[in-house]
Amino acid sequence: MKNILHIISSPRQQESSSIKLGNRIIEKLLTQYPGSSVTTHNLSQTHYPPLQEAQIAAFKTPPNALNAEQQQLLSLSNKAVAQLAEADILVIGSPLYNFTIPAGLKAWLDHIVRPGLTFTYENGKPQGLLKVQQVYLALAANGVYSDGPTKHWDFAEPYLRHILGFIGLSNITTFRVEGGGIPGIMETALEKGLESVQL
Ligand SMILES: Cc1cc2nc3c(=O)[nH]c(=O)nc-3n(C[C@H](O)[C@H](O)[C@H](O)COP(=O)(O)O)c2cc1C
Repeated sequence: MKNILHIISSPRQQESSSIKLGNRIIEKLLTQYPGSSVTTHNLSQTHYPPLQEAQIAAFKTPPNALNAEQQQLLSLSNKAVAQLAEADILVIGSPLYNFTIPAGLKAWLDHIVRPGLTFTYENGKPQGLLKVQQVYLALAANGVYSDGPTKHWDFAEPYLRHILGFIGLSNITTFRVEGGGIPGIMETALEKGLESVQL
C-alpha cells in the first residue's frame, strides 16, 4: 500500500488532458498497489501566493526563532511540505503554458523548495531532503515536444526534473498527451497518451 499524492495544475477540470492522464497513472498505480490512498491537491482550489519579502525572511529563520506572524506566514508552505513528505508516490499533472509550467504550479514549487527543510548545501553541494520514492509527470500540450525539431521548446519537463531532483525526487517518469493542436495528431492524441501509461 502506498500514499499517492496527485498535484493538479490545469484549471480546466473536466476537459483537462493532464488531469485525465494523471488519473490514468493513478488507476494503474491502484492496480499495482491495491488499497493505496490517493490525495488530490488541486492548485486551482488552493492558491499559493507569490512570495513576499516577509515570507522569504521567514523561510530563512530557524524554526525556534520564528515569531507568531512568521509562523502564520509559513503555515500554507509547511502544510504543502508535510503533504509531500508523507507521499510515497507523487503524480504531477501540468499543461504546457507558454513553453513552461503554469504559474500556479510554479507558485506551489516556490512554497515547497525550502532551505533547511527540503534542501540543504553540504560542502557547497546541494542535497535534497525529501524521499518520495517515485514521481510521475502527466504533461499535456498542443505541440509535440517528446522528440523532433521542437523538443527543445519544452522548458516544463527539464525544469520539473531539475527542481524536483534538487529537493531529492530524482526517480521521475514522464507521460504525455501531445499534439493536441495539430491536425492529423490531435484526433488520437488523448487516446495515445492514455495508452502510453504502462508502469
Ligand atoms: C495560456 C496557454 C498557453 C499555452 N501555451 C502552450 C505552449 O506554449 N505550447 C503548447 O504546445 N501548447 C500550449 N497551450 C496548449 C495547452 O498546453 C493544451 O491545451 C493542454 O492540453 C492544456 O492542458 P490541460 O488539457 O490539462 O488543461 C497553451 C494553452 C494555454 C491556455
